Amino acid sequence: MLNILDHPLITHKLSIIRRKETGTKDFRENLDEMAALMAYEITQDIPLNEIDIETPVGPCHTAELARDIVLIPILRAGLGMVDGISNLIPTAKVGHIGLFRDHVTLEPQDYYSKFPPNTPDAVVMILDPMLATGGSASAAISSVKKFGAKIIKLVCIVGAPEGVARIERDHPDVDIYLAALDEKLNENGYIVPGLGDAGDRLFGTK
Ligand code: PRP
Ligand code: URA
Repeated sequence: MLNILDHPLITHKLSIIRRKETGTKDFRENLDEMAALMAYEITQDIPLNEIDIETPVGPCHTAELARDIVLIPILRAGLGMVDGISNLIPTAKVGHIGLFRDHVTLEPQDYYSKFPPNTPDAVVMILDPMLATGGSASAAISSVKKFGAKIIKLVCIVGAPEGVARIERDHPDVDIYLAALDEKLNENGYIVPGLGDAGDRLFGTK
């Protein structure tokens, strides 16, 4: 299912990272803050276990998260979403998947993967700012499914209709979360209007 998270703070920060004048520092900070705000909304339905604890004043019947959370950024640009969510959920373990898009074929090429052992039973959030053709996200989801993951949420900042359709076709069981659904892809596979090349803007490589 597609979910557009258009809380005013998320939309405001998205406008900052979309601007072509925004430099690396502001891009990085706002992307990270957006990821945290999105995670706050996405985790609304995470189940809780009831527990009994002692406060300094007395016994207290309360609750804690019933499931582990695993964050899996798609390298490189997904790295820019990890810290914000980890600050919010410090118990989250972090896996990595290395994929880059071949500039000519637009097909994802994978070069690295390492997942925490609790991935199969955790709520897995795959992180990547851009959902363009959907090839990278679809390959990443297949890879974590192969490792045993069953509850998977795809968390991206900007998506194109083509990418959303690809994930809905390849992985109908995966929930998709976006800050915005843009108009289309251009002839080079970039999202229009999008925000440009997320990895380059995050790491200052162009
Ligand atoms: C970008 C982006 C996604 C992918 C999206 O990464 O961060 O991973 O493209 O495109 P798709 O939906 O068409 O697969 P890129 O391949 O440029 O690698 P990088 O992060 O290392 O720059
Ligand atoms: N990857 C990016 O970084 N930006 C796009 O618009 C599409 C793919």
